[in-house]
Amino acid sequence: MNKNIIVLIIVIILIVCGVSIWLINSNTNNNLNSNANINENNGEENNIANIVNDNNTGDREASDHQKIAIIYFSATGTTRKVAEYIEELTDGDLIEIVPKEKYTDDDLKYNNSNSRATKEQNDSSVRPEISNSIDTDSYDVIYLGYPIWWGDAPRIILTFLDGHDLSGKTVIPFCTSGSSGIDTSVNYFKNNYKNINWLDGKRLVTLQSEVKAWINSLDY
Ligand SMILES: Cc1cc2nc3c(=O)[nH]c(=O)nc-3n(C[C@H](O)[C@H](O)[C@H](O)COP(=O)(O)O)c2cc1C
Repeated sequence: MNKNIIVLIIVIILIVCGVSIWLINSNTNNNLNSNANINENNGEENNIANIVNDNNTGDREASDHQKIAIIYFSATGTTRKVAEYIEELTDGDLIEIVPKEKYTDDDLKYNNSNSRATKEQNDSSVRPEISNSIDTDSYDVIYLGYPIWWGDAPRIILTFLDGHDLSGKTVIPFCTSGSSGIDTSVNYFKNNYKNINWLDGKRLVTLQSEVKAWINSLDY
């Protein structure tokens, strides 16, 4: 065979081998890249799934920088129940306002104009004593709960507000009642304790799902 032809065949073989190696390499790279993309996308999907999961828990827990207290007065246990739901959902500290003189059934008779509760609500200067000391200093957010008495907050709530410096804190009122709303009491708080960051608050029933939906709607 002519020497030139042999050289030509060798050159052709080398070119074919070179092109083949390049093609194999570029295919492998493409596969690696697309695998990387799939992994990246999966990662993104996983992240989204985590966010959805986080939201699905629905629980609003105290963040690192916001400490939450649920401070409440309850004469017959209804407001306590709601306060306990809020404790579970926020992981805040539950603190009861305990009257020095406990309210008896007779004290709470609202159809008796001489009952203790009725007389207290008729006198805006009354401040029934609280028996326990309540430390509010370490909290940033306070849920404040009470029953509605004669359309308003029981006077003992004013004893609590007068006795604690809540300046700059966020206070979120909540109440239970037969049917009356919370607005009269919250308007009084807003007008008389102006250094507090009041949220509007809500009348709640003892239904955990309602309490949960409310808490999750709050902006603090
Ligand atoms: C003295 C007194 C006055 C009340 N006044 C009202 C009222 O004006 N409007 C209302 O809807 N419910 C009124 N209630 C009903 C309570 O607000 C309701 O039963 C509340 O859930 C009790 O909460 P507690 O169990 O935490 O004390 C009154 C109850 C009492 C004892």
